[in-house]
Amino acid sequence: MKMFKNRDIISMVDFSREEIDHILDVAERVEKDPTGCHDLLNNKILALLFFEPSTRTRMSFESAMYKLGGKCIDLGAIDASSLKKGESFTDTIKVISKYADLMVIRHPAEGAARYASEIVDIPVINGGDGTGQHPTQTLLDLFTLKKENKLERVNIGILGDLRYSRTVHSLVYALTLYNVDMTFIYPPSLRLPDWILEHLIKNDIRYKECNNIDEVIGDIDVLYITRIQKERFPDISEYYAVSDSYKVTKSLLVSKAKDDLILLHPLPKKNEIEKELDDTPYAKYFLQVEYGVYVRMALLGLIMGVFD
Ligand code: CP
Repeated sequence: MKMFKNRDIISMVDFSREEIDHILDVAERVEKDPTGCHDLLNNKILALLFFEPSTRTRMSFESAMYKLGGKCIDLGAIDASSLKKGESFTDTIKVISKYADLMVIRHPAEGAARYASEIVDIPVINGGDGTGQHPTQTLLDLFTLKKENKLERVNIGILGDLRYSRTVHSLVYALTLYNVDMTFIYPPSLRLPDWILEHLIKNDIRYKECNNIDEVIGDIDVLYITRIQKERFPDISEYYAVSDSYKVTKSLLVSKAKDDLILLHPLPKKNEIEKELDDTPYAKYFLQVEYGVYVRMALLGLIMGVFD
């Protein structure tokens, strides 16, 4: 197996099934004894560079680093940094790499994290690059599916903005390594990008597509719901044409879904899930948030070489 020490985490395309399963196994070990890890990354520093808003990715990496005994430094608001004075992205990344042992980058441009990994000597973790990939979100999604016994022989429905959602792009790619069926439900203008559809076809992956959740809700075991990514639309009128086009309601699930259906969502959510569902056994999205810390602790420890 490719070693994790000093490895960049950029895209799910870079991972084998064996490697993903290993990360999930380490995360499970961390979950069983999180306090046992409290000093593993003493004297290590994680740099956080978020060129786009974030709550979960930024703060769960911070939390994970502190729980491992390490420290974080944060570029903070872009307008408060020397980027505001015209310093380039390249120079900024190179400078910060001299202050830290590894870095997490979120950026609106697809490929930004890969580019950063090529110009610095410390490991780079992609915290989301435009409409590209969000690999650490996918790892925590897979961890949740594993914990819920829904990572093999299940039908996973993926609903919403499949075109612009980087969490979907990473997740669909990773799920092709598992024995699952996939059902894609989306407004017609928000279909998966061609490169992913071509990958599915080339690898004989079983999938269905439709535009109405009511038609397929009874057939699926997991529903992964996404927000429409307003910030990615080049023409805002295209966003308003689809912004209220789907909503998962309690009455729909009670009347048509399997009793053990689970709902996942990378969050933040807006109006695509009825609020009444938050406190039902269907909803696992706040559990995903909790699991995200264990998964990120596992990744940080693997990259820094303190976990096997
Ligand atoms: N899921 C996720 O990436 O959330 P944030 O945008 O809050 O980091």
